[in-house]
Amino acid sequence: MTLLDLDPDQLLSTTRAVRKRLDFTRPVPDDTIRECVAMALQAPSGSNNVTMRFVVVRDEAKRRAVGDIYREVYAGYKASPGYAGKPTGDDARDAVQRRVASSADYLGEHMGDAPVLVLACNEGPNRQWAVAGMGNVIPATWSFMLAARARGLGTAWTSMHLARERDVAEILGLDYETLAQAVLTPVAYTKGTDFRPAGRPAPDEIIRWV
Ligand SMILES: Cc1cc2nc3c(=O)[nH]c(=O)nc-3n(C[C@H](O)[C@H](O)[C@H](O)COP(=O)(O)O)c2cc1C
Repeated sequence: MTLLDLDPDQLLSTTRAVRKRLDFTRPVPDDTIRECVAMALQAPSGSNNVTMRFVVVRDEAKRRAVGDIYREVYAGYKASPGYAGKPTGDDARDAVQRRVASSADYLGEHMGDAPVLVLACNEGPNRQWAVAGMGNVIPATWSFMLAARARGLGTAWTSMHLARERDVAEILGLDYETLAQAVLTPVAYTKGTDFRPAGRPAPDEIIRWV
């Protein structure tokens, strides 16, 4: 295991949604995925009950089928008022959002090209419980992404395939009723490992001191 030389704050502030800089040609070893899942499992869980599940999709036909669904759902999003690239009239924000949208558009076309797709899910005895357990799967998924970044891998948090969750369950042979899907991410080595902190509001803009 070789880790990038990043201190905790650098890791937290440079783990970006990576899309155009995913290297689809370089294989990702199973053991590296296992290491990331091991780190993810250090995340908290309600009652210390590990209900998170990571479905690792390597099979090319399945990856491409999931990628096709993602492409179709993405096309609907692109035509919707919520599309990140829609101009707002705020030139500075629009410039940033144009970059985000161009990057997201790229993933819309290429999700299925990633050597690995990881689908983070929560398991429960029925769908209601499976959904309630999202508080378990979401921190674990972010930990997975941080661990991936530390190993030179890129990820991008997406969830819009959930509009077709049943179709994805069928492609991957998952039980829709007991396995609630949460996050779909490509996993691939990044082209270069230099990523920068993103522009974000100053803390006092979002803190309420009471
Ligand atoms: C709940 C959630 C849903 C997201 N859905 C998508 C998505 O469907 N497609 C995509 O390309 N990125 C998606 N993203 C990634 C965001 O676009 C990205 O985090 C944001 O633009 C900030 O970029 P950064 O993570 O590189 O700082 C999502 C992120 C979150 C947290």
